[in-house]
Amino acid sequence: MKQKQLTINYTEYTDLNQLPDDEQQLIIKAVEALNTSYSPYSQFKVGAAIQLASGNIVIGSNQENSVSPVCICAERVAIFNAKVTYPDDIIEKIAITASTQNFEIENPVTPCGSCRQVMVEAVNRQKGKEFKIILHSPNNRILVFNSVNDMLPFNFNEKRLQNV
Ligand code: THU
Repeated sequence: MKQKQLTINYTEYTDLNQLPDDEQQLIIKAVEALNTSYSPYSQFKVGAAIQLASGNIVIGSNQENSVSPVCICAERVAIFNAKVTYPDDIIEKIAITASTQNFEIENPVTPCGSCRQVMVEAVNRQKGKEFKIILHSPNNRILVFNSVNDMLPFNFNEKRLQNV
């Protein structure tokens, strides 16, 4: 028997200006994407913006449904938007933010398990090239992850299907 620990790496920022210009811009795009959220049931808007290697930006927002399991999160809408609009482009960064009229959001929105799994697949689709995951809250607290493995440790991925 061996007791083990796992370290998760991420960086915390408390001001937008601490980030490089392109990441500040990407967060602004994610905030703009909040306007496209369809969230009448939760009133919780989530916006996402993806920066591609070509320089193109694609966005996503949560799209809800009266049948709740049918809701799709902003992150997945953005990733699938990227994959159908620019299928061969490489995802370099994704910024995610949230807003609601019901309370103050103090901490950055953290992707759900399904979105993390879709991020794992998106990395796999681009031959293992990782992308930055930038989590933002309206009070400009920001968490940056350089690898999806830090978001979803012990994830199931294509290597498992080949017993690698
Ligand atoms: N949601 C997202 O879009 N992304 C997340 O990271 C967490 C949750 C959405 C799903 C649903 O429309 C609403 O937020 C409340 O769960």
